[in-house]
Amino acid sequence: MEKILSILSYENLKKIFFKLEPETAHTIAGLGLRAASHCPTLLRYFKAKFFVSHDMLEQNFFGRTFRNPVGLGAGFDKNGQYITSMPTLGFGFTEIGTVTPRPQEGNEKPRLFRLVEDHSIQNAMGFNNKGSHYMLQRLKKLYFFDYPIGINIGKNKITAESEALNDYETLFRAFKDYGDYIVINISSPNTPGLRDLQNENFINAIFKMGKEITTQPIFLKIAPDMEAKDAVTLCKVSVKAGAAGIIATNTTIDYSLTPHAKDFGGISGALLTEKSYTLFRAIGKELYGKTILISVGGIDSAEEAYRRIKAGASLVQVYSMLIYKGPSLIKEINEGLVGLLKKDGYSHISEAIGADWK
Ligand SMILES: Cc1cc2nc3c(=O)[nH]c(=O)nc-3n(C[C@H](O)[C@H](O)[C@H](O)COP(=O)(O)O)c2cc1C
Repeated sequence: MEKILSILSYENLKKIFFKLEPETAHTIAGLGLRAASHCPTLLRYFKAKFFVSHDMLEQNFFGRTFRNPVGLGAGFDKNGQYITSMPTLGFGFTEIGTVTPRPQEGNEKPRLFRLVEDHSIQNAMGFNNKGSHYMLQRLKKLYFFDYPIGINIGKNKITAESEALNDYETLFRAFKDYGDYIVINISSPNTPGLRDLQNENFINAIFKMGKEITTQPIFLKIAPDMEAKDAVTLCKVSVKAGAAGIIATNTTIDYSLTPHAKDFGGISGALLTEKSYTLFRAIGKELYGKTILISVGGIDSAEEAYRRIKAGASLVQVYSMLIYKGPSLIKEINEGLVGLLKKDGYSHISEAIGADWK
């Protein structure tokens, strides 16, 4: 068994995947994850191989146990089809979506690119997803699932900006009793006008509405391309309006980061690391201890995850570097974190969160 499964090692799979067009590779990987979810022996094997569960890393938020602090970033599992497979890749929690009220195709292909020299990805997917009804059926089948699930919500492309609140209302109502937290996504660069909703009026209105509909914790996910002081202001407004936390950051539209960039879509992975960290740090400085902060953007090692934790992150997420390094990265980050915490004399992750500001 061990021998057969070693053929399925990520190094071997990557050689094949990287020869394929990125979206085709993603579809095939997805089929593999769905197939694995029907095979308990495989799930057990990979979970034992990649999932790190350690007292020092375990935390409780909003009544849920996060066995380790490394989650999957939104956009990989847009329809909630791989939830049961995520612990087998080592993730302590997952975020599904972005889901829109109605199904939509997303932008024209090609819309997903590897910037291999830069260990980065550029995507202009545009919320391709099967819609809220489909995702709700997936969640109903799983409920009650012993694994934290975030649901990332966004508006349909054809919905006018002036009508955007109605889309979010539909989504709050749909998911009010499912999953463990909801994320308002107004930071994707691939839905025209979406980032314009990152303003005080809209944020106040959407949190007021969300809080009236659901008792679920609601997070705001923000873009890395704002001035730090504007981003901090918006995060403070969100927290005052009832946000349970902030997720920073989404992909960047700073195409000057590399000569290999297209002039559309959002860049993630190694090119985003510093930009995402800098903005996260500014937010951490002001909001650490006042809300739950989740850091995402170019995290590729235990050291980088630890840097985010010390700047105020209770949890981190990974997406792009999973593509480059495979699930052993998630294990490496979790095991590395235990080592780094011990080295600094901490007995639990909570002692290191926000250490830069203590
Ligand atoms: C192909 C792709 C699709 C994504 N789709 C979404 C999405 O639907 N919703 C969202 O909030 N973020 C989405 N993201 C952004 C990620 O969740 C994450 O914020 C960003 O990629 C930075 O993290 P990373 O450098 O670890 O990838 C997507 C990223 C990629 C690469």
